[in-house]
Amino acid sequence: MKKNKIIKIMGLMSGTSADGLSIALCALRPAGRRLSVLAHKTYAYGAQLRERIITARTMRAPELSALNFELGGLWAVMVRRFCREYKIAYKSVAVIGSHGQTVYHSPGKNGHTLQLGEAAFIAEETGRPVVADFRPSDMAAGGQGAPLIPFLDEYLFGGGKPVALQNIGGVGNIAFVGRGIKTSGFDTGPGNSLMDTAVGMFSNGKKTFDPDGRWAAAGKIDHGRVLELLKHPFFALKPPKSLDRSEFSDSFIKKRFGNRFNKKNKYDVLATLNYFTAASVALAFQRAAPVRTSELIVSGGGALNPVLMRNLASAMEGARVRSIARLGISPLAKEPACFALLAWLALNRRINHCSSATGARGPRVLGKIIL
Ligand SMILES: Nc1ncnc2c1ncn2[C@@H]1O[C@H](COP(=O)(O)OP(=O)(O)O)[C@@H](O)[C@H]1O
Ligand SMILES: [Mg+2]
Repeated sequence: MKKNKIIKIMGLMSGTSADGLSIALCALRPAGRRLSVLAHKTYAYGAQLRERIITARTMRAPELSALNFELGGLWAVMVRRFCREYKIAYKSVAVIGSHGQTVYHSPGKNGHTLQLGEAAFIAEETGRPVVADFRPSDMAAGGQGAPLIPFLDEYLFGGGKPVALQNIGGVGNIAFVGRGIKTSGFDTGPGNSLMDTAVGMFSNGKKTFDPDGRWAAAGKIDHGRVLELLKHPFFALKPPKSLDRSEFSDSFIKKRFGNRFNKKNKYDVLATLNYFTAASVALAFQRAAPVRTSELIVSGGGALNPVLMRNLASAMEGARVRSIARLGISPLAKEPACFALLAWLALNRRINHCSSATGARGPRVLGKIIL
């Protein structure tokens, strides 16, 4: 292989927010461990599909099996649209990595996890190798199956001063990387999905999220309630730990805020949940950050919520909070970019796994390859 060769790789991520499929095309320069995003887009799901994804955890086998194929087929169409829009020839793409749609994640003893979205359809559409299903190999090796992103964090930021990388997708997760420290990472608690659930409840399913945090900005934060919410047992667990989005969902909201909402207290609930989400990140940072870490780089849809970013800056007390957009990576492109990288490494039989973040027995090559 030529030393400075640039390879084009593609990644697909459909996160627990079930907002849509995020696709990124990246340029990889393996010799210098350089990865940059060339194009990215999120293709939104319709309300019905979104609802089916969120409730898939209780489906029976026939519906689950159908959803698996339907998602794979839909993603193949989305990849086709993406490649047309950005004039990408399939043959120019070395490999496609697809994380899949998590419908169930249960780590720990006798743990298991299930990601849907039959990747064979993407391989059939593009004729390119596709790598999918990254989490099971980690769990078979004793890991939590999550988080997998710290591998990318280490790849990109491992040589610099220690930083914390926080992704705020459906759930939140943090990683600490940098020269001289052992990479670690874990789920911090709720991400956008808790606020999204509240918005769905308050709008009778008409809205899926709080654009630019407008509802949260219109309400009053109940700081006492935030402290109470932080007593949830998940926050007392020692890392490595990972979280299923169902842990912080409608039943959590009903239990903690009651069942009756009116126009005014809806905004207050949103304001409080927004601050709680930020405070849970700050708590994780304060408890686990190696000394000398003074910066938090935020990615995921949460980085697009200005109220959440402001709350983070206030809850973090001193540590600098920046969106990853400031470093040239769009907040919604980071995760698909990660699965592009993991796929390319898997195809080349190279380690693509940060076992210190998942608690696995050792580094593995994650993913199943369709040629
Ligand atoms: N402009 C915005 N204002 C507020 N929230 C936003 C905005 N854009 C995206 N989001 C939030 O980000 C979520 C999607 O985040 P994402 O990182 O894709 O999560 P996941 O990886 O779980 O799919 C949406 O459901 C929404 O809550
Ligand atoms: Mg998403």
